[in-house]
Amino acid sequence: MIEGRITRVMGPVVVAGGLGGVGLFDVVEVGEARLAGEVIKMDDGGATIQVYEDNTGMRPGEIVRSLGVPLSVTLGPGLLGTIYDGIQRPLERLKASSGSFIAAGTKSESLPLDSVWDFAPAASVGDPVGPGTLLGVVRETELVEHRVMAPPGARPGRVSRIAPRGRYALRDIVASSDAGEDFRLVQEWPVRRPRPSRRRLAPTEPLMTGLRVIDILFPISKGGTAAIPGAFGTGKTMTQHALAKFCDADIIVYVGCGERGNEMTEVLTEFPHLVDPRTGRSIMERTVLIANTSNMPVAAREVSIYTGITLAEYYRDMGYDVAVMADSTSRWAEALRELSGRLEEMPAEEGFPAYLPTRLAEFYERGGRVETLGGRPGSISIIGAVSPPGGDFSEPVTQHTKRFIRCFWGLDKDLAYARHYPAISWIDSYSEYVEELKDWWDGVDPAWFALRSRAMELLKREQRLQQIVRLIGPDALPDEQRLILITADLLKNGFLQQSSFDEVDRFCSPRKAILLIRAIMDFHTRAEAAIKGGTPLPRIASLPVRERLSRLKSEVSNEGAEGIEAAMREVAAAFDAIGRAPAAEEGR
Ligand SMILES: Nc1ncnc2c1ncn2[C@@H]1O[C@H](COP(=O)(O)OP(=O)(O)OP(=O)(O)O)[C@@H](O)[C@H]1O
Ligand SMILES: [Mg+2]
Repeated sequence: MIEGRITRVMGPVVVAGGLGGVGLFDVVEVGEARLAGEVIKMDDGGATIQVYEDNTGMRPGEIVRSLGVPLSVTLGPGLLGTIYDGIQRPLERLKASSGSFIAAGTKSESLPLDSVWDFAPAASVGDPVGPGTLLGVVRETELVEHRVMAPPGARPGRVSRIAPRGRYALRDIVASSDAGEDFRLVQEWPVRRPRPSRRRLAPTEPLMTGLRVIDILFPISKGGTAAIPGAFGTGKTMTQHALAKFCDADIIVYVGCGERGNEMTEVLTEFPHLVDPRTGRSIMERTVLIANTSNMPVAAREVSIYTGITLAEYYRDMGYDVAVMADSTSRWAEALRELSGRLEEMPAEEGFPAYLPTRLAEFYERGGRVETLGGRPGSISIIGAVSPPGGDFSEPVTQHTKRFIRCFWGLDKDLAYARHYPAISWIDSYSEYVEELKDWWDGVDPAWFALRSRAMELLKREQRLQQIVRLIGPDALPDEQRLILITADLLKNGFLQQSSFDEVDRFCSPRKAILLIRAIMDFHTRAEAAIKGGTPLPRIASLPVRERLSRLKSEVSNEGAEGIEAAMREVAAAFDAIGRAPAAEEGR
C-alpha cells in the first residue's frame, strides 16, 4: 500500500504528495477518518483527489492511503431492490448499522458477502469459456434470472470444473477453467470504463413507456437515448418516475442525482408498493436505485452516473433490456463545474469545464443496443432529465446534450401551467427513431405511421390557426379550420394528456393508445366529410360522442379495447344520422 500526505485542501478536492506510482482513478482512503476518494489527476504537484464524503475539517498533513485499484463497483446477485449512494454503498444496510446519519468513513460491502444464492450450472466441463460465457443462473428476484457470466477480461479456455446445483455464497468459486481462471458469483468493474461488447445493433424495437405522447408521437427505441429538458416544476421527475414504473425494460437503474431529498424519498416510499402492470410483481424486483441528493458531497454526485451506467451494462451483458433514468444531468454537470472550479481549471461557457461535452458524449455513448460478449442481444436506454436555469434551452447543458441524444422531449412551461401533463411539447419535441421503428409497428399495427403523421400535422396546423384566432377570434375561420381546432382539442384532452394520478390512465398499453388515436382521427375524417357535404360545424361540435371520445382514456382499461371500438361505432352512427337528416331541417 502506498501512503502519502495531504498538502492542500480545496473543499471536496485535496492534493497529496508522496503518492508516486499510484494510478489515475485509483481509490484512496483520505485522512485519519479514512474517507473514500479517487485520484483524478497526477502531476508534479502531486495527486489530486476528489473526496466522496463530507471532509469538513480535513487538514494538510493527514495521511492518504492508496488501495491500488481503480474505483469499481461490485456486480452480482442482490443488486436489484437495493438503494445505493453514488459510490455503491447500500444506504439501508448502512442505516441499519449506523443510524440515519451515516458517519463519514463508514464502510459497508456493496453486496452482503455472506448472502447465499441457489446456483444452477449452465455449462459443463470441457465447454469453451471466455469473456461473457454463461456459466449458470441464480434466481435474483421473482422477475429476474441473474445470469452468472465469465467477466470481460477472462482468458479463453475450457471449463475444468463447474459447481453442481446448490447454495453458494457470493465469493464461492462456482467454475474454473484450464486457463487458470476461477469464477465466482460476483465480479468487479471500474466505473469509468465502459464494459465491452461485440458490436452495436440497430435499435429497431421500441421501449414502450405507457405514455402516449412518447410511444405514439416521439418514440424511443430499446437502446435509445432521450433528454427531458424542462423548467422548474414542469414535470421532469414525474415523467422519469412514470417511465421507471411502467416502461417495458427488464431492468431499471434510477439515478437520483443532486435533486432534493424529498424527491428521492418519494421514490423510496412509493416504488416498493407499486406493481408492474405486465407482471403483477413489485417494481423494486427489477430496479436499482442510486440516491445522491443535493445535500450529499458533489464528488459522489459526479461519480453516481458512472456507477449507475456500469450496473446497467452488467445487466445488459446478461442479455437484458435496461433503462437508465438520470435526474438530473444538470445537477451532475454542476458537480463537474464545482469540482473543475476547485481544480482552478480554465472555465468555458457559463463556468462549465471545456470537457463538459466530452463527458456528456461518453455518458450517452454507453447506451445502445449491442451483441454482448456472450453473443446475446442486450440494450441500455438512457433518459436524462435536464434542468436549464430559467427554462432557457439555449444554455450549455441542454445544447450539448442535444448533440448526443436522439429523442428530445421538451417540457413546455405553458402546458405545465395549464396543468396539461405530461407537458411534453408536440411542437418542440422530436424522435429520430421513427423510421427505425416503422417495421416493428408494421407487425403490430401498420396504421401507426400514418396516424402519427396525420395527428402531428393537425396539431401543427392548429398551432398556426391559434395565432389567427388570437387576432380575429375563431368565428372568422371557415368551418373546416374550426374543425381542426376541435379535433386538436380532442387530441390534447383525450389522447396527449395523461395524469400520473389517474389510476386507469397513468399507464397506457400500445393497443389502447393506437385505438384512441384512431378513434379521434376517425372522428376527424367523418367530420371533414360531413362539412364538405354541407353540415354546419355547430351540429358536429354538439355531438355527444365528442365528449365521449375525450373521456375514453380514463373510462376504458388497457384490456377493454371493445369500449373504444364501441365508441367508434357510435361516432359512425352519429355521422350517419347527420347524413340522413337534411341540415336545413335540424337547422341549429
Ligand atoms: N404526469 C403528471 N401527471 C400529473 N401531475 C403532474 C405530472 N407531471 C407533473 N405533475 C405535477 O407537477 C408537479 C411538479 O412535477 P415535477 O416534480 O416532476 O417537476 P420537475 O420538473 O421535476 O421539477 P424540479 O425542477 O423542481 O425538479 C408535480 O408535483 C405534479 O403536481
Ligand atoms: Mg425534479
